[in-house]
Amino acid sequence: MSRQAVLERFRGNSPLIAPSMLKCDFGDLGGEIDRLEAAGADSIHWDVMDGHFVPNLSYGAPVIESVRKRTELPFDAHLMISDPGRYLDDFLRAGCDLITIHIEAVPEPATLLRRIREGGAAAGLSINPGTPVAAIRDYLNNCDLVLVMSVEPGFGGQKFLPISLDKLAELRNILGREALLAIDGGIDPRTIGPAAEAGADLFVAGSAIFDEEDYRMAIARLRDACSS
Ligand code: DX5
Ligand code: ZN
Repeated sequence: MSRQAVLERFRGNSPLIAPSMLKCDFGDLGGEIDRLEAAGADSIHWDVMDGHFVPNLSYGAPVIESVRKRTELPFDAHLMISDPGRYLDDFLRAGCDLITIHIEAVPEPATLLRRIREGGAAAGLSINPGTPVAAIRDYLNNCDLVLVMSVEPGFGGQKFLPISLDKLAELRNILGREALLAIDGGIDPRTIGPAAEAGADLFVAGSAIFDEEDYRMAIARLRDACSS
């Protein structure tokens, strides 16, 4: 999918629910994608970890590529790795439609964000709970989406940090209505409402979906909690 197509698909369609594949059944990755699509997921969120930028390892571009043909859903790669520039082409080739890098890994991200766009994908920039919005202000024009971390990156199943709500509100204020604002970590039926209220339109959720038997019900519960 082209950058433009993925942005058109996302814009104005809040709440967007993006299941984080960190907790999926990797023994049946294709089946999990089918179930998530049938359950109404808006995109597939791939948490890529290198054991260096974060203290955990997950998977890389070949795993993502192996299921690319399984679905038309946008693939969103969240690169929690120290040197994303080194692997960027692999993720573009794997068919990622949105690629998000961290300001803490790349303090001067303009060149890399430009490379993501030139590669045909939408460009995302993420900030950790301890990083102020001021750190990314100069680069907002270079990105299509800002991803606010509401837990320290590295692991699923952590508690939502309310500091992220202030950051969402601050970013929404700077960005205006058009820009895509995402939140990642500890999103569940209790936390999603306040996050939506603060201005998020894309919600990454791992445990709230994969800890449930019925993905359709889990996703519906998240959507409902957003509008109530
Ligand atoms: C954390 C990841 C998240 C995480 C979300 O480093 O970026 O996407 O898997 O999982 P939950 O929803 O369980 O916090
Ligand atoms: Zn993530």
